[in-house]
Amino acid sequence: MEDKIKEISRRILESKKVVAFTGAGISAESGIPTFRGQGGIWEKYSPAIYGNLPGLALTFLIRPKKLLRFVTEVYETFSAAQPNPAHLALGRLEQRDRLSSVITQNIDNLQERGGSRNVIKLHGDLYRLRCLKCQAQRPLDPTNFGLVLQELNSTQPGRLSMIRKIREAIPRCLDCGGGMRPDIVFFGEGLPQDEWLRAQSEAQSCDLMLVIGTSSLVYPAASIPHLAKSNGATIVEITHEKSSISFFADYILLGNAGDLLPPIVEAVERGLPK
Ligand code: APR
Repeated sequence: MEDKIKEISRRILESKKVVAFTGAGISAESGIPTFRGQGGIWEKYSPAIYGNLPGLALTFLIRPKKLLRFVTEVYETFSAAQPNPAHLALGRLEQRDRLSSVITQNIDNLQERGGSRNVIKLHGDLYRLRCLKCQAQRPLDPTNFGLVLQELNSTQPGRLSMIRKIREAIPRCLDCGGGMRPDIVFFGEGLPQDEWLRAQSEAQSCDLMLVIGTSSLVYPAASIPHLAKSNGATIVEITHEKSSISFFADYILLGNAGDLLPPIVEAVERGLPK
């Protein structure tokens, strides 16, 4: 393993442009469960219902308390999460001018909080709202949102009054008064165009891509490492278990991203000109 880490760090130092592509696995050590596999989010909550807006709207009407439980669990999990050594290592690599961008499928804000500046969010951002009517975006105030959830959870009215209470709690657009939704990409929705174009351009122009903690099963995002490979980039995969990317990855490191990325970045730092 040590030899592989040394070799990868040397390849990073030799590269003109390095890009990272991340998935839920990079945030797993921060306490945010992955989607697939044992203990994954989709094991507990069916993606057919909780992974799309119509399913969530139906749950709101039929089982509003269950929807409230789901939203509260997501809120509490994400609020408690802190950047882990893998997020911090990518932040350092960018600050040392050895990482051009992080293309992420994650909707948490841990890459940014770990020091990454150029983060391309293919699946949106849980901390941003978008108007259902006029598409205006604004940040979500997590403290305020937490207080609203606390209030909703402290009263346990019947189904109809719960529906009314949740409806009243839906944030309103400051421009047009429309209801606001989380600015994340649900199943069946298109990716944000700007981010998608930027991600493609980064993938086409890099000569090394770090693929970290993703099963690479959800397209079109999962095509990003393929694009990099077909343009001649070296692919370094860091994951718990092999994925479809492993078939063409040049290096595969199996283990925790939080254990494997820091020694790579430290070796890069040692190799930088003084
Ligand atoms: N370090 C490295 N890899 C890890 C770690 C860890 N600590 N923990 C888990 N993994 C790996 C797993 O082996 C798995 O391959 O991370 C991967 C996580 O895969 P998924 O749960 O499928 O997450 P992701 O690939 O990000 O999912 C893509 O699917 O449901 C949608 O929109 C959602 O963005 C998400 C997309």
